[in-house]
Amino acid sequence: NQGKLWGGRFAGGPSPELEALSRSTHFDWRLAPYDIAGSHAHAKALGAAGLLTADEELELHRGLDALAARVTDGTLRPEASDEDVHGALERLLIEEVGADVGGKLRAGRSRNDQIATLFRCYLLDHQRVVSALVLDLVEALAGQAEANLGAIMPGRTHLQHAQPVLLSHHLLAHAWALLRDVERLADWRARVIGDSPYGSGALAGQSLGLDPELVARELGFTGSTANSIDGTASRDFVAEIAFVCAQVGVDVSRIAEEVILWATKEFDFVTLHDSWSTGSSIMPQKKNPDIAELARGKAGRLVGNLTGLLTTLKALPLAYNRDLQEDKEPVFDSLDTLEVLLPAFTGQVATLIYNTARMAELAPQGFSLATDIAEWLVREGTPFRVAHEVAGACVRAAEARGVELADLTDEEFASISPALTPEVRLVLTVEGSVASRDGRGGTAPSRVREQLTELRARVSAH
Ligand code: ARG
Repeated sequence: NQGKLWGGRFAGGPSPELEALSRSTHFDWRLAPYDIAGSHAHAKALGAAGLLTADEELELHRGLDALAARVTDGTLRPEASDEDVHGALERLLIEEVGADVGGKLRAGRSRNDQIATLFRCYLLDHQRVVSALVLDLVEALAGQAEANLGAIMPGRTHLQHAQPVLLSHHLLAHAWALLRDVERLADWRARVIGDSPYGSGALAGQSLGLDPELVARELGFTGSTANSIDGTASRDFVAEIAFVCAQVGVDVSRIAEEVILWATKEFDFVTLHDSWSTGSSIMPQKKNPDIAELARGKAGRLVGNLTGLLTTLKALPLAYNRDLQEDKEPVFDSLDTLEVLLPAFTGQVATLIYNTARMAELAPQGFSLATDIAEWLVREGTPFRVAHEVAGACVRAAEARGVELADLTDEEFASISPALTPEVRLVLTVEGSVASRDGRGGTAPSRVREQLTELRARVSAH
């Protein structure tokens, strides 16, 4: 059992089949810099507890620095016989500084508290990266909202024409959802940053007088875990960030679906920028929204990662179980996926060209101003129940004649209801309609400008 972390009680080495199953270096090697940082901090704790001489501690720091340099330049690689990143780095450290000093580092720690800590460190770093990328997308949406402030589009419910809205209002709806994801990531960070599990040992804590708070501070945490069993066995911090990644994927997929739909000949609401769309190998005319389609597809993968992870965690008894090794690949994949998806998606959103003339032409169609008639009548003193009936009768009359509401004559309006005086035409334009929705959160241009300022203030908190 040369080079293994255990062996004393075993007569023979592990079978190759077991080694093949057990090995995790192909995915946990990316944690090597974090493992080394943890070892630096742990060496300090051992030194502070009087378990290393000053020279020994220095030698360990030197050896760890040497390994870190070789991790960075890529010359350090795990071997097939290494089970995981922790074992590989201990073997390499002993090669570097010798077994006498190198063999002292493992005292008072377990791979269980190591992995629970390093994984948090890795996720804390990538939380920052993903937050910044989501904020870029929020800013791209806000930029488009600002650039297209006058444009009016058909707002839909059930995918049917409902009421006219400002394009900016619609774009900002996506921005708010994504901003909440950024806020979720910040909430997650606030929970994780105070919870360094180093010092939890395998499950019960350590008996060597080490100071977990010292290690926590060294690694950038604000505190250490209060319960060593919880510290080593909980993975809700993994599930939670996987959830936020999945939610980002879902939110992005809703924008993606619109881009795909809006770029069709039938909608013709947007034109994709050449640099952010693709062609066909056979059909020369094609211009495809591949970025949006990949975004829509990857949302499934992000949800799958979360689902798989939660399924692994369900009903696991305390404390550490090897099942927990399955926690890393899904969330690494979720973060990797967003880190490659978001820059492309943001570029596509930022460069979309909106066909605002087409949107404006369609905005009043499909009787989308019927609610405006009803609400005008209410302002004139008609009870809403009656107003709804009257506006409905206008729709029936217009539909029967194959025209839109604004095309009804004064006589037609008057014959539907004497309350329908020609003044009703004030609200029968899309501009009048959106301007009238001027309560907080509404689509009136003044409110949308105010909303944009509010959004940007919330963005600047991150
Ligand atoms: N590689 C393991 C993981 O990712 C950590 C090692 C714990 N192994 C053990 N036998 N206690 O969870």
